[in-house]
Formats: sequence, C-alpha cells, structure tokens
Amino acid sequence: MQALPGFREFFPDDCARRNYILETWRAVARRYGFVEYDGPVVESLELYEKKSGGELVGQMFTVGAMAEPGEIKGALRPEMTPTLARMVAARARDFKKPMKWFSMPACYRHERQQRGRLREFYQLNVDIIGEESSAADAELLAVCVDTMREFGFGAGDFVVRISSRAAWQQFFAGAGGKPEDEHELFQIVDKAERAGAEKTHAALEKFGISAEQVLAFMRGREPTPDLAPVVADLQARGLGDFIEVDYAIVRGLAYYTGVVFELFDRAKKERALAGGGRYDRLLALMSDGKVDMPALGFGMGDVVLANLIADTPAAAARRDEWCAAQHACDTYVVIAKEELRPQALALVQRLRDAGQRVDYALTAAKVGKQFQAAEHLGARQAILIGDEWPQVKVKTLATREERLVDAVAL
Ligand code: HAM
Repeated sequence: MQALPGFREFFPDDCARRNYILETWRAVARRYGFVEYDGPVVESLELYEKKSGGELVGQMFTVGAMAEPGEIKGALRPEMTPTLARMVAARARDFKKPMKWFSMPACYRHERQQRGRLREFYQLNVDIIGEESSAADAELLAVCVDTMREFGFGAGDFVVRISSRAAWQQFFAGAGGKPEDEHELFQIVDKAERAGAEKTHAALEKFGISAEQVLAFMRGREPTPDLAPVVADLQARGLGDFIEVDYAIVRGLAYYTGVVFELFDRAKKERALAGGGRYDRLLALMSDGKVDMPALGFGMGDVVLANLIADTPAAAARRDEWCAAQHACDTYVVIAKEELRPQALALVQRLRDAGQRVDYALTAAKVGKQFQAAEHLGARQAILIGDEWPQVKVKTLATREERLVDAVAL
C-alpha cells in the first residue's frame, strides 16, 4: 500500500531536509523577535468558508465523523490565518501590542497535484497584530527576505513582488467599479497573468471596466503612496534589491486589505514560494466587532522552497552540510570482549548522560563489523573496549589516530 497521492512521508533523509527548513524558519523568526504559537489541525468548516474565501473554499478536506453527532462539520486546516485571528480575538487583551507571532503548521488543501503544489505542506506563518504603521509591513517583508537569504539565496534567485489592494480599490472606484464587485475583480486580476489578455477582457466586460485600463495599471511600477514608505524602509536596510513593486499581485484570499505581496523565483520556473499582506478587518469580522486591530502576515510553503534549494547549488550545499551534521552518532562503543558488555553499557550510559550521541552493537558482533557500523553511522570516534580494560582505545575515525586512555577519564 502506498501513501495517498499528495500526502507526505519522510524517510530519514527526507526528514532531515524537512527539519532543515523548519529549523531555519524558526531561527529567523526568532531572530526578529517573533514567538511561536500553534492551533488545532481541525477547525469548523464554516471558519474557512466565511473567512478565507477565494479558491480555498473548494479545496477543503472535510472531516465527517466529529466527536459530537449531528453538529459542526470539521475541515483540516488549509491555512493558519483564520485560526490565528480566532485565537487572538478570544484573548486580545492578554498580550502586549504589537504581537509578533509565528507558527509552522502542516496544512491541507485538496488541490490538483502539480510541481510545487501538494495536498499536504508545511507553511511558515509570520504575523504582526496591532500595528497599523507601514514600518510593520516593512518589518514583515524583511523577515520574509531574510528567511530566503538564510537558505543561501541571493537577489539573483528570488524577488518579492509587492502591491497594494488599497491602490487597486481606488483604481476600481475611479474606473466606475462598485465596492460589492471588488472581490470578484480581485479574483480576475489575481488570475490575469495566467489567463492572458483575451480571457481577462471577457471576464471584465460585465463590470464595465476596460481590460486595457486594468492591464495598464497592472504594469505600473511606481510605488503608490502607501507603498513608498515600505520601499524606502527596505532600501534603508539594504534589502531594496529583493523587492519589486508589481501591481499584478492582488492575492486570492478574501481577507486582505492593504499592502500585499508574493515571493517568486527569479527564473519564474516555480509557483509562488510565499504570499501575504495586511488583513486589517479580519479580527473585527471574527469577533463581531468586539476586537478591532490591524494585522498583517505571510505564509511560506516548504514544497516550492525545497525544489528551489535543490536546484540552486549554493543553497543545496548549505542544506547538505546541515543534514550531514545531523548524523546519528558521535561515538560508537566497540565491544571487543563480550564479557566486558556490562562495563561497556555503563560507559555508553555515562557518555549519553553527558549529551553525546552514542551507539553500540546490541548483540555480539565481530570487531570489524562494529567498526563498519560506526563508519556507516557517521561516528566521529570509536571507543574500543577489550584486552586493555580498564583502559580503552579511542580511535578518531577520519584520521585513524588511536590513543589509549583510562575509561574513567572519558
Ligand atoms: P497562500 O498564498 O494561500 O496564503 O499560501 C502561502 C504559501 O503556502 C504559498 O505561496 C505556497 O508556498 C504555500 N502553499 C499554498 N498551497 C500549497 C499547496 N497546495 N502545496 C504546497 N504549498 C502550498 C495563505 O495561506 C495565507 N494564510 C498566508 C498569510 C499568513 N497571510 C497572512 N498571514
């Protein structure tokens, strides 16, 4: 039997590469002063139908058999933002603002499988709650850029394309669009790059907005007033080369309100690596107006990221170095005289207590076989317990150097 298509299994090598991504995400988020939180894997289906909107609604894995019969329908989380908004709305007063929170949930979407898109993926979520100034947008973009830099990518490898839903709203209003059509208009712009001019033209017809106007606005590269301070802030940090103003970005999800962005590989070979922006009204929506706080954040998935790491030599070398350091064992205790096994076990225990990764043969084996096992596990040294006891031979495996030491001194 095989795993279901689109769901993941991680053999040890895959698991090391996955952990490399998760650990790097965590390290960078913490470097920026974000604290980690988590939420449930299953939420009510209604939460996503009401708050996520867009394509996600048709991509939900629903959970039929909930504990209480006849009640709420559950869904595996396709994203983290509605959960975060629900949690924050419930205890908003308990935390100092701005809140800087991150999480690395596994998420589930019933998508058509393709390169970079699976049905199960990990997603770094970095969010700032309770800060309306554009300094927060810039700080968020800086974490996003630095996360990529930490993996060994440079400005030639990726770019964050930033845009503004507020600017688009103004544009739609000026072009005669109605506020209630905004969501549909955003969906059309979101798809315009992939759909092409003709389809976009047809989709816009009923709104009385000309496709030429939309495409012209989309191609604009001058930052609108809400983007200008964000761009200036990032330039001041020396991160200007990693971002580009690009109004073709509007984001598919319903809740975004202001600055929005997506991160792509420069070669444009892959789907988006990350996406996010401001969602200033989601908390009020979640709490029926009781908690009204500005918020912003982004999600970065591990699937496209892993592809890009594999295809970028500098990034792949960094990953491999990290994974090699995760070898199973530092010290292998070789038991050359089986009657000394109790003493060997005591030594193994003592070294493990001291924090070393230690392994040994569970059953009697030839000395040569035990050394082979040590090499195979990537051990730095072997300790041979044999005729010299209570002295032991310590052998550095890379150089083959040996020295005799008192076992008690180890
Ligand atoms: P999103 O654009 O739907 O945003 O997803 C963000 C990232 O998650 C994508 O750029 C991609 O890397 C990854 N991703 C999404 N779907 C899949 C999939 N089926 N397979 C692999 N990777 C995938 C959100 O989810 C927002 N909640 C992000 C956010 C956080 N906004 C504010 N805070």
